[in-house]
Amino acid sequence: TEDILTDTFGRNHNYLRISLTERCNLRCTYCMPADGIQLSPKEHIMTHEEIYTIAKEFVNMGVTKIRLTGGEPLVRKDASLILEKLASLPVQLTLTTNGVIVDKFIEQFKKCGIKTLNVSLDSLDSKKNKEITRRSYFKKVYENILLLIKEGFIVKVNCVLIKGFNDDEIIDFINLSKDLPIHVRFIEFMPFDGNQWNIDKLVSLQEILSQVHSNYNESQIIKLEDAPNDTTKSYKIKGYQGSFAVISSVTNPFCDGCNRIRLTANGQIKNCLFSTKESDLLTPLRAGKSITSIIQKTIQSKLKIRNGMDTLDKFSQTDIHSNNRSMITIGG
Ligand code: GTP
Ligand code: 5AD
Ligand code: SF4
Repeated sequence: TEDILTDTFGRNHNYLRISLTERCNLRCTYCMPADGIQLSPKEHIMTHEEIYTIAKEFVNMGVTKIRLTGGEPLVRKDASLILEKLASLPVQLTLTTNGVIVDKFIEQFKKCGIKTLNVSLDSLDSKKNKEITRRSYFKKVYENILLLIKEGFIVKVNCVLIKGFNDDEIIDFINLSKDLPIHVRFIEFMPFDGNQWNIDKLVSLQEILSQVHSNYNESQIIKLEDAPNDTTKSYKIKGYQGSFAVISSVTNPFCDGCNRIRLTANGQIKNCLFSTKESDLLTPLRAGKSITSIIQKTIQSKLKIRNGMDTLDKFSQTDIHSNNRSMITIGG
């Protein structure tokens, strides 16, 4: 089955990211446009049955890992049911969440065999957190991260860095991994529709590593191995329980190892985070037609790097990104 999901560059798309909803209980500035978004009408959002049917089709084609995203995946009323149904498929199931209500799902996660959760947290300062999320849940999220660890989950903390806002917290975040087995991932801020990205707000891989090198001795900084499909460049500080990594989509894209295909909450697939063309699976599915060949064609038309934006120059032209969705409706 491997060939069906392999693109013209030999990349096997065995990792499906499903966005469950366009809604979120936070309002992060880098994700949700300031004037909000036009939500898809409810009847255009996939039902739990449709999500399961499409996921099963992908699994039959060779998908082995499914990540649930959003919006915030857990705000969907039937989130538990969706988790349970997808857990019955032979895949590694996981999710990316803002952590606000994960405490209500602990038993459900365990029942579904979820081992790892990726939780977004951009600042360790509650005031700055309120500024970036436009909501006051810092304490809750922090406590929930500790709870997940206590309950035995592997926790990756996603921290989107924005110049002049939280780049002074890089070392604080790394030091969090001293006594906690958490994996902090510093993410280069990426451009999407309505998120006011510009290159001056970028904190690059190089800058992050230079801060690391001026704060720790060379002998303390250990490079860790990453899997070929990983988004990360991983490190740890010697003796620390956890680790840290950089996701450098802007300055050092990792498209060569891309194994991801995305399904949006309204049933469209995207062959790249930055693709502006989408393929509708929901309409044919509802018409009782097969979606297999649509999936195959979508993968076959995938471009080599960032939907064709192979240089930083091309990628930095913000008007191009207004043809893409805003992050809240893609799911990362
Ligand atoms: P793992 O499956 O645990 O490796 O997580 P992940 O990094 O794939 O996913 P997560 O949802 O935690 O996303 C972390 C950051 O990586 C977000 O900023 C995502 O937008 C970004 N990211 C995830 N997948 C891709 C990808 O295929 N391409 C690019 N450019 N960025 C990605
Ligand atoms: N650039 C980089 N990462 C982003 N995320 C959301 N918007 C952006 C952006 N503009 C991250 C979130 C979440 C993950 C799914 O994507 O922090 O952890
Ligand atoms: Fe894959 Fe597109 Fe991300 Fe590159 S930018 S890793 S091609 S999803």
